[in-house]
Amino acid sequence: MKITSLDALQIFDSRGNPTVEVIATLEDGTTGHGLVPSGASTGHHEALELRDCDKSRFRGKSVFKAVSHVKGEIASTTLGRDVFDQAGLDAALIALDGTLGKSRLGANAILGTSMAVAQAAANAKRIPLFESLGAGQGTLLPLPEIQIFGGGKHAQGRIDIQDFMIMALTAQSYEETLEVTANVFHAAADVMRERGLLAGVADEGGYWPMFDRNEDVFDALMASIERAGYTPGHEVGISLDIAATDLFHDGYYTLGLEQRRFTTEQFAALMIEWVEKYPIVSIEDPMAEDDWAGWQIVREAIGQRCQLIGDDLFTTNLERIERGIAASAANAVLIKLNQIGTVTETIAAIHRTQAAGWLPVVSARSGETEDAFISHLAVATNAGQLKVGSFSRSERMAKWNEVLRIQRLLGSRARFIGAGIFASAGIQLP
Ligand code: PGA
Ligand code: ZN
Repeated sequence: MKITSLDALQIFDSRGNPTVEVIATLEDGTTGHGLVPSGASTGHHEALELRDCDKSRFRGKSVFKAVSHVKGEIASTTLGRDVFDQAGLDAALIALDGTLGKSRLGANAILGTSMAVAQAAANAKRIPLFESLGAGQGTLLPLPEIQIFGGGKHAQGRIDIQDFMIMALTAQSYEETLEVTANVFHAAADVMRERGLLAGVADEGGYWPMFDRNEDVFDALMASIERAGYTPGHEVGISLDIAATDLFHDGYYTLGLEQRRFTTEQFAALMIEWVEKYPIVSIEDPMAEDDWAGWQIVREAIGQRCQLIGDDLFTTNLERIERGIAASAANAVLIKLNQIGTVTETIAAIHRTQAAGWLPVVSARSGETEDAFISHLAVATNAGQLKVGSFSRSERMAKWNEVLRIQRLLGSRARFIGAGIFASAGIQLP
């Protein structure tokens, strides 16, 4: 089935910033849309999001150049291709761009095309996206990692740590994970209201962090879990995204809220101390993106009992994941389509992670769209975990809800192992 037209639009993400949507049309009239997300706490090794940088329009953030690249060069390379040859198309787009970071045409232009074609392929076969992406092998519903408080760059640095999240450890089904999360999310509002700290939500829908010390957030989170009727560390575990790259400047880590400065060894020791003190089951980016020595200290100390996810460290990039596996630097990889820029490379990153006995965590960005591609990607690859932000705002809920629909479509084929996924990577939660 041939791709006969490719079109693109400038649309807007959940922060009201411009982003790219691509529409692929096939010879039988079938279409597929690809909507591109956008990060704020981005890693330096990510593929390039092409913006026009014309200060007179959309504060420099318009993506008209990326849109025109889709309609021009990318369309010329894509039209007439077989929609079912995703790998061939993605390889051709990488070659057409010709740079390491997809900086000539823009990773947003390339990814939008790659996603639109993947969706068109599923639509042409009249099967759901997860069935098409996973060649019928994807049946595992993910364990969600859901944000309760949002900080860091998603809350104008109001607190230093970016994500305070929960994971429903004893839930027996995907629905039960959402029930536990809904209960904790609403209990957290009660706790914040009583303390006079309720002040809206951060970029990913978690409560705005009106705290004076980073550790006060742990206290409010533990209180919220208990208020909802659960025992922290038993039914509900804590998961953090430190986004430490944003805290690392001139060789030191800084917690601005507390005006404390740390060397690599001291910051690693703080991460280890928190894991010993609180029921933390997962930490993302505990150390900065190029602090390999720091990562090794943390992995050595707590890698047997805590998931350690590299986000800025790996940027969904196969070469960096290989380096991390060889160095034993983490035990899990955050997977974001737009960090690398094609569907094929993203799936290859997931497969390499799984082959190493590590855990892939499929993730949204802080700037999201109404598209739920990642819910399908998580199930298609049996990734086992999904991170989308909080339990509010429709760009987040679209992803959680889509997994419910996928579960319905899978029927008796659907599997759920929840926190059992940790044991498969040799992580024994205390
Ligand atoms: P970002 O945040 O999309 O702003 O990078 C998400 C994350 O750090 O995981
Ligand atoms: Zn992150």
